[in-house]
Amino acid sequence: MPNTILVGAQWGDEGKGKVIDVLTSQADVIVRYQGGSNAGHTVITGGKKYVLHLIPSGILHPGKQCVIGNGAVMDPLDLIKEIESLRAQGIEPSGRLFISTRTHMVMQWHRALDAADEARRSSDKKIGTTGRGIGPAYGAKVGRSGLRVGDLLSPDFLGEVKAATESTNAILTSWGAPTLDVQSLVDIYRQAAITLKPYIADTVAYVNEADRAGKSILLEGAQGTMLDIDFGTYPFVTSSNPTSGGACTGSGLPPRRIDRVVGVIKCYTTRVGAGPFPTELTDATGEQLRQKGGEFGATTGRPRRCGWFDAVVGRYAAMVNGVDFWAMTKLDVLDDQPVIKICTAYERDDGVRYETFPSDLSVLARCKPVYEEMPGWMTPTSQTTRYEDLPLKARAYVERLVALIGGRLGILSVGPARETTLRMGL
Ligand code: IMP
Repeated sequence: MPNTILVGAQWGDEGKGKVIDVLTSQADVIVRYQGGSNAGHTVITGGKKYVLHLIPSGILHPGKQCVIGNGAVMDPLDLIKEIESLRAQGIEPSGRLFISTRTHMVMQWHRALDAADEARRSSDKKIGTTGRGIGPAYGAKVGRSGLRVGDLLSPDFLGEVKAATESTNAILTSWGAPTLDVQSLVDIYRQAAITLKPYIADTVAYVNEADRAGKSILLEGAQGTMLDIDFGTYPFVTSSNPTSGGACTGSGLPPRRIDRVVGVIKCYTTRVGAGPFPTELTDATGEQLRQKGGEFGATTGRPRRCGWFDAVVGRYAAMVNGVDFWAMTKLDVLDDQPVIKICTAYERDDGVRYETFPSDLSVLARCKPVYEEMPGWMTPTSQTTRYEDLPLKARAYVERLVALIGGRLGILSVGPARETTLRMGL
C-alpha cells in the first residue's frame, strides 16, 4: 500500500475506526500522529469489542507495528489501562507498540487544569472539552515546560513531577479548584515509568527506516479538520493538528514520502462539544439521525449534535488536507429520510455568499446555509455489499456529494459490519 494519511474531514467521529481497520490490513506500520485519549475508537472484531483511545487499532491485527508519534500527547495512566485491557483480551502489545521519546505526556495536573479551566469559563466561552487534559498538555509543550516520554527514563523525572504538581496546586488554589496530592502522584508516576519503559523508542528513526525498507505506513489522524487548532472553528477546537500537515510534523515522516491522503466524511454532519455548526438540526430530524446513527460520544458518552451534510466544510477539508480519496460513511443512517438537504454554500444576512469556510466566527454567526434538496431512497441499504446494488437515488446522493466537494470516492460505508464497507479503488 502507498504511504497513506487518513484524516477526519468534519468535527471528528466520521467513522475513521472502520476505515482504518480496512486500510490497516494493507499497511505494515500504523502511526497515531496527534491528539490523545480524547479520541475513542470502538472496534468490533471476531465477536469481541475493543475500545481504544491512544493505541492505533492496528494492534488488533497480528504482525502490525504500531507507533504513538511525537505529535500525539500520551497519558501514561490511560495508556497502561489500555495495554492491560488488551492483554486481558489476549492481545500482547509488547514488541509491537512503540512510543516516541519525543511524545509529550498528559499528566494528572493537566487533567485538573482542564476541568478547572472549563469550570471557570462563562457558559458562552466553554469549549466542552473531553476533560482529558489535552489543552493544558499541548499548552505545556508549546510553552516549553512539558514532560516528554523520554523523561520517564531520566533520574530527574520524579523531581519534575513533584515540582509541577506543587506549582499547579498554587494555580488550582487561586482558581478555587480542588488540589492534587503530591506524594501519591510521585508514587503513581514512579510505577508508570517502570511499566512503560519497554515501549519507549526513537520512533522518528524507526518510521523512516521502515519507509526506506519499503514498508507501507498508515498515518492515522484523530478528531477532524474542523477541530484543528489552525484550521478549525477556533477557539472551539482541539489543541493539535488533525489535518494532513500534522501527520508529517507528528511522525517525522517527510512530506515527500506521503503518497496519498484519504478523507473520512460522514454522509451527514455531527459535532460534539460547543462551537459553531451551521447545518445543525435541533428538531425531530436531528434526533432521528442521532438515534439511528448511534451518535453518542465514544469517549464521553455525550449526545452528538446532528445536521445535514455541509459541502462548504467538505470542500474546505478537501483543500486543506489535499484529499485524494474519500471514505464516505453511514449512508444507511439516511435510509428513511424522504427528503435530504445538502448545504452548498453559506449566505450572510447582507447577501454575501461564502463557498469556503469563514475564519471569523462572528461572520459565521451571521450566515445561513444555502440548501439544495434531493429525494430520499426510503429503502434499507445496510445489507448492500456492492455499490451497483444501491438504490439509484442513494447513488445519486453520494455522487452529488462527491461532485460538490471534489476528489474521488474510494470507500462507501453503509453499515457497521465489515462487509458493508464498499470499496472502490481503496
Ligand atoms: P479536547 O480535545 O478534549 O480539548 O476538546 C476540545 C473539543 O474537541 C471539544 O469540542 C471536544 O468535544 C472535541 N473533541 C475532542 N476529541 C474528539 C473526538 O475524538 N471526536 C469528536 N470531538 C472531539
